[in-house]
Amino acid sequence: MRYKVPIAIAVGLFIGIIGTVMTLSALRSGPHMTEVLMHMQDFHMDALDANVKANRCAVTDSLPHLQTLRALSNDLEPVFLPIDKESDFRQKASDLRAELDAALAAPPTDCVALRTTMSKIGRSCKGCHQEFRN
Ligand code: HEC
Repeated sequence: MRYKVPIAIAVGLFIGIIGTVMTLSALRSGPHMTEVLMHMQDFHMDALDANVKANRCAVTDSLPHLQTLRALSNDLEPVFLPIDKESDFRQKASDLRAELDAALAAPPTDCVALRTTMSKIGRSCKGCHQEFRN
């Protein structure tokens, strides 16, 4: 019985060390960049959606989100590659960029137009997801 306390302490230390190592390695690997990128895209699509619902569809309301979406989509290849069917992936990524370029060239000026723009962008998101998202 003399050893009960030292053993408990040793076990406690051991568990603590294992926990620390696991936590540190989880923190080091961090969230996957692919997920971060996708969540940022999603965030700006949601923001546009909220704008439509709030009837805030001036160019000054939408443009920053469209610009950010366009800039984020430059990162699709650097973040996702290497990937199977790489040339397909590049094609889908440029489809999205082309859609966003069109939106930036002639930004929607009211909510009806913004809805249309968003569904075109959404189609490009889906185009890639259908092939690449499990
Ligand atoms: C060129 C390909 C491609 C395009 C374009 C694309 N995505 Fe994705 N997306 C993926 C892949 C691959 C996954 C699954 C892998 C992953 O989550 O890491 C994914 C996953 C997601 C997820 C789930 C993330 C998670 O936590 O699992 C969201 C949300 C998302 N995309 C939003 C968007 C939005 C919004 C757009 C358009 C503005 C978009 N994506 C355009 C390839 C793409």
